[in-house]
This record gives sequence, structure tokens and C-alpha cells, in this order.
Amino acid sequence: MKKLVLLIMTLLSLVAFGKSDKLYVGTNAEFEPFEYLENGKIVGFDVELMEAIGKKIDKEIIWKNIAFDGLLPALQSKKIDVIIAGMTATEERKKFVNFSDPYFVSSQMIMVNTEDSKSKIIKSYDDLPGNVVGVVLGYTGDIAVSKVEGVEVQRFNGTSEAIMALNAKKVQAVVLDSEPAKNYVKTNKNLKLINTDIAKEEYSIAVGKDNKELANEINEAYQSLVKDGTFDELMKKYFAQE
Ligand code: ARG
Repeated sequence: MKKLVLLIMTLLSLVAFGKSDKLYVGTNAEFEPFEYLENGKIVGFDVELMEAIGKKIDKEIIWKNIAFDGLLPALQSKKIDVIIAGMTATEERKKFVNFSDPYFVSSQMIMVNTEDSKSKIIKSYDDLPGNVVGVVLGYTGDIAVSKVEGVEVQRFNGTSEAIMALNAKKVQAVVLDSEPAKNYVKTNKNLKLINTDIAKEEYSIAVGKDNKELANEINEAYQSLVKDGTFDELMKKYFAQE
């Protein structure tokens, strides 16, 4: 009995000492309003959500701004503990990470340039074949458009490059997540949004496959933020006028 108690105490202290009070969180700050740079600082909906979760679970958040297609490798090699990046919880990604409960529902939208006569014929997803369509490397938009036969897909490293190409009529459309797309259309008057009926997507927070404990902690914290109204406040702050 004594031995057992000793063993349990040793194990408990190991767990306690092994636990860090810091959480390294990776994002890709080119996805307004979820994460973007303001005066060199990463801000946005995801940032506030993760900071609130950090407070609940008593962890200091250390932000890492990484290319989107570098996020999953960084998590797998344990350079970061968490990803929050408007990341869609796809079946494929579920093979490599643990996703939290979904916190946002999104969809893919088509953006066209009204000043480009070739763009005028694009009214739905079915009109994409025969056109050059811009996507961002590794985004779910890339995965979706790549499946459409007859489309010439141009992959860009970031959304702003894709938008530049659309403005320069180098691509006839850009397919992007709904909220960032709405933002670009607000600031580029020549761009127009086309709603697609492509399946809804859900954004989730990702942690390592072997880190079920952290996934549970994050879920519990998230649920309590939903209950105490903090999450609702955030939704209102970022998505009120829609
Ligand atoms: N929802 C899309 C995906 O999961 C795009 C996410 C892009 N996020 C970002 N922070 N750049 O592929």
C-alpha cells in the first residue's frame, strides 16, 4: 500500500513538473477577421478566443505566425502545441490532429472582378471550368477547386497575392472562405461575391494527435466561454453587421 502511494505521488509530481505554463499557438495572420496583423501585432477573432481560453486554463499564449501549409507540420514536430487559424476540420486533417469542438461555420465563396469581361460569365461553380481560378496553397478552397475538372488552378502563397492577380485579371476568379472574402469585397469595389452551394465547413482548434488531454481542456474552456457569454460577445464584435 505504502509503495503504491509513493508511486502515485511520484507520478503526480512528474505530471506537475512536466507541465508548462506556456502554450505555443500557431496561426497564419493573413485571414481577416480571424487573424491579421495590425501595427505588427497579430489580432482578430481567433486571437481573442484563444487568449480567453488561455486564461481559463491558466496558460500564457505565445503566438507563432507561420505559413498556412506549415502549420500542420509544425504541430506534428511539436514546434507548436496548438493551431487556431480559421482551420477547417477536414476528414483528411483529422488523421493527423485532434480537433476541438467546431466554433465557426463557414463556406467557400467565388470572387470575380466586374471589370474583367471574362469574369462576367461566372455565375456559379459550374462556370469555373475553362477559366483560370486562383486559390491559396493548401486552403480548403484549393482542395475544392482542384477537384473540378477543366479548371486551371493557380495556387498563391497568400490571399493578398490571389486578390492582386484577380485585380490584374490574371485569374478570372478566386475561391476563398466566406468571411475573409466578404472583407476583400468591402475594400475592393470592383470585386463581386458569388455565393456557392458548396458544403459548409467548420473551423476548429487543432492539437497534437497524442495530446487528448489538452484537447479536452480546450473544449471545456471553450464551452464555458459559450456559457458565460464571452463567445457571444466576440461574435458580436467581429460579425455584428451581417
Ligand atoms: N478554412 C480554410 C482551411 O482550413 C482556410 C484557412 C486559412 N487560414 C489562415 N489563417 N490563413 O483550409
